[in-house]
Amino acid sequence: MLFIDIITLFPVMFQGIKGTSMWARAQDMGAVALNIWNLREFSRSKQYKVDAPVFGHGPGMLYRVEPLFAAVEQLRSDSSWVVNPSPSGKVFTHEDARRLAHKEHLIFLCGHYEGIDQRVIDSLVDEEVSIGDYVLTGGELAVMVIIDALIRFLPNVLGDSQSLEEESFSRGLLEYPQYTRPEIFRCQRVPEILLSGNHSRIDKWREEKAVEKTKIIRPDLLEGKGGM
Ligand code: ADE
Repeated sequence: MLFIDIITLFPVMFQGIKGTSMWARAQDMGAVALNIWNLREFSRSKQYKVDAPVFGHGPGMLYRVEPLFAAVEQLRSDSSWVVNPSPSGKVFTHEDARRLAHKEHLIFLCGHYEGIDQRVIDSLVDEEVSIGDYVLTGGELAVMVIIDALIRFLPNVLGDSQSLEEESFSRGLLEYPQYTRPEIFRCQRVPEILLSGNHSRIDKWREEKAVEKTKIIRPDLLEGKGGM
């Protein structure tokens, strides 16, 4: 079982997703245990203050060190891995999702304002992860994205294990187009070959379509594969 602790100022943001779809399934089947902690409860100041103005000149508030140290030191053990989502982290990939799914215990911080005091990052954080080259108003959405991606790698969470192998990125290609009933919808037909029952021809067609799509949308994925 993977244990996940999330430290946030906005626990309510996780309420919906925690009880939904694959997240609920993964918890119900004992693949993951999720706990959401309110950072404010780790503040020892009278007004539960968790932020302070940045030292030096310039605008902005930062998360103070004390509540974050109190939270992480209470929650962590020798097997914990602490992740801080940040636009200045390394960009998160499919392989990172797979790697994090193999940890025993993940602790996620969720920064807001201008970020987190560097001493927290230097002393407590094992890894900083960005979910893309844009800036969110806080780390919660990034944490949801990361957890959502890694939950799929936990044993038996996806019903059909084949879907893990075939999907986009597993093979370094985008996914081929897929169709279901009806065969004709508003004059658009499902490609004939998919109705043929010929598995090897269908596999070949899917491979061609995946390469074609990857060439157009993500040519960078084909670099080094001799596919350009
Ligand atoms: N926090 C704000 N922006 C972010 C991003 N792009 N990735 C991860 N965490 C963030």
